[in-house]
Amino acid sequence: MNGYLNESNFIMVEEGFTTRDLLENLLGELCQENEQQAFFVADLGDIVKKHLRFLKALPRVKPYFPVKCNSSEGVIRLLAELGAGFACANKAEITRVQGIGVPADRIFYSSPCKQVAHIRYAASHGVQLMTFDNEVELSKVARTHPRARMLLGIAADSSPSAHPSMMFGTTLKSCRLLLETAKEQDVEVVGISFHLGSRGLEPQTFAQAVAAAQLVFDMGSELGYRMHLLDIGGGFPGTEDTRARFEEIAAMINSALDLYFPEGCGVEIVARPGRYYVTSAFTFAVSITALEEVPAEQSGSDARRAWCTTSVMASMEPSAASCLTAPAPGLGCTRPCPDLPLLSSSLRGPPEHAEDRIADGLELPELHLGDWLVFENMGAYTITTSSPLGGCPQPQVTYAMSRMAWKAIQLFLGKPPQTEDDRESLCTPLSCGWEMAETLCVTPVFTPASII
Ligand SMILES: Cc1ncc(COP(=O)(O)O)c(C=O)c1O
Repeated sequence: MNGYLNESNFIMVEEGFTTRDLLENLLGELCQENEQQAFFVADLGDIVKKHLRFLKALPRVKPYFPVKCNSSEGVIRLLAELGAGFACANKAEITRVQGIGVPADRIFYSSPCKQVAHIRYAASHGVQLMTFDNEVELSKVARTHPRARMLLGIAADSSPSAHPSMMFGTTLKSCRLLLETAKEQDVEVVGISFHLGSRGLEPQTFAQAVAAAQLVFDMGSELGYRMHLLDIGGGFPGTEDTRARFEEIAAMINSALDLYFPEGCGVEIVARPGRYYVTSAFTFAVSITALEEVPAEQSGSDARRAWCTTSVMASMEPSAASCLTAPAPGLGCTRPCPDLPLLSSSLRGPPEHAEDRIADGLELPELHLGDWLVFENMGAYTITTSSPLGGCPQPQVTYAMSRMAWKAIQLFLGKPPQTEDDRESLCTPLSCGWEMAETLCVTPVFTPASII
């Protein structure tokens, strides 16, 4: 084991016990203490499974997890243990990851807009890999970080849905000039980076971007750079309900890599999968602290507003928030009421944050004060290093992992099973744990989420 994660960092879930059982136990304890604080339950086994799946589908690609997507300690520790790198957007994220002991050579300062003070911090803490996509950014780095290894960010998505003013990355036309300027300023450029966004990517878009990257690699090589790193960004789906499945996207990427950067060409490939890793691992429970009927004249029909104990969901990106407008909360265990009529409902954060609109138009059964709503797929962009909107405290996270997943990590890291029982419970031969990937998780038994 690498020492980033140990059994004290999570609850070991034995066979037959599910994360749902854990969540209900926690709710029981909170009810006894009259506590209403929102909380997350995170199934770390789900992330282990995603990691093994990633390595299997994209064997040439090393993942760098974007810390802004979920900076919770259990996630960082687990991914560090599994050998992933980290993409940090600022000094706080670099501090977070280095605080857990991750060495600088596994950190990529990937923000396209960096504060000079943060570049200095990266320089003094050994973080060298960074990106740039314009001259201003380049000269900041040239002045403050002589040992930086830079990736030129390109805007590689030429599809009609890509909005140029909203994208980071320079156009192909500007690449040569930027590479020449970097040369004049004595900045070392080592490769190309792109991020195609996170909204329902077409697999084909990755292929176009890899092809564009190869053109810029050639430009860099002509100018005398040793171009040896390609970053294909993030945007891989975090759940199974997306247009293109992860494996379908991965197959397209592999073909493009084989064509434009064939194995043995000396180019290392990295990616920044965020939501892919964490979305499905986190379940969120929030309690109702206030209710208000909205008269039909105001809402068009009977409707209701409910206030929750946290504003965490408001800090989600719109794509994540939109999953709430699906009929997310269903019916729970202690008050099963499948036949009750559904009412149009709006959810708000704590009343002191009036601007905090979590979701509108949810179809929910009648809510009561103290009810708990349970939302699944809540791992991406809900927990950050900085204080979330309105300065509300971050909800607590309880981490769980099945014993099977814990053993798979040990196998993956090359540690043989220790006891006879362990050896018998694992199928052989097990080279790296992939064979177990399908059975790693604590069975996700959430009905479409619940009211408890
Ligand atoms: C530059 C950049 N890279 C990577 C990511 C990760 O995206 P995702 O979580 O969709 O994988 C993001 C997300 O916003 C991003 O802005």
